[in-house]
Amino acid sequence: MKGKFIVIEGPDGSGKSTVARSILEYFQEKAIPMIHTREPGGTPVGEEIRNLLLDPENKEIHPRTEALLYAASRAQHVEEKIRPHLEKGVHVLCERFVFSSLVYQGMARDMGIDNIQTINDFATSDVKPDLILYLDPKEKITRDRIQERPLDRLELEEEFTQSVQANYRILAQKMQEQLHFVDATQNPEEVLKDCLEEMIKELEV
Ligand code: TMP
Repeated sequence: MKGKFIVIEGPDGSGKSTVARSILEYFQEKAIPMIHTREPGGTPVGEEIRNLLLDPENKEIHPRTEALLYAASRAQHVEEKIRPHLEKGVHVLCERFVFSSLVYQGMARDMGIDNIQTINDFATSDVKPDLILYLDPKEKITRDRIQERPLDRLELEEEFTQSVQANYRILAQKMQEQLHFVDATQNPEEVLKDCLEEMIKELEV
């Protein structure tokens, strides 16, 4: 049987990495095969693209270049890591996927959702998430919550960060049938419980 592809989405500071680590631990304890990965990155080539994209020195990256680099990292990720694991029956838990590009590049960078969908259809071939867990922060996330590490190139643009948060809400509402909403304002145990309930249904374990 093929593995399931589970994506965790939500703006910076919504708690994706924390819940992803706990989900992985839960499945490891049950000896259910699962890998945890993230975008941009997830492969050696993808990590190089990630460094290019997030380096604050790269001020001259054009929004179309940015959109294509995220899609390029994703294409490599799909072919080198996601698809082979799914085909071996391993579940894949991924922080961010196409939905992030629709919000960041399609909306916040104003490249158009349809354009971004088109380049991502090409990049991902026929690999689509079986479940998208959307961590809904419900309210504005302040910079101090993100600022546990140095800010990356995108986070340094304060106006852009605000626009991303607003656009997450807009697109999540529009695509609500394709997402499972998780209230990210709950404590970490409750966030984990909500995610696991939905995953257990999807994975039939
Ligand atoms: P991370 O901080 O969640 O690892 O993601 C790195 C940054 O890249 C974050 O600011 C969101 C941004 N991003 C996009 O703009 N488009 C995308 O498609 C993805 C996956 C991330």
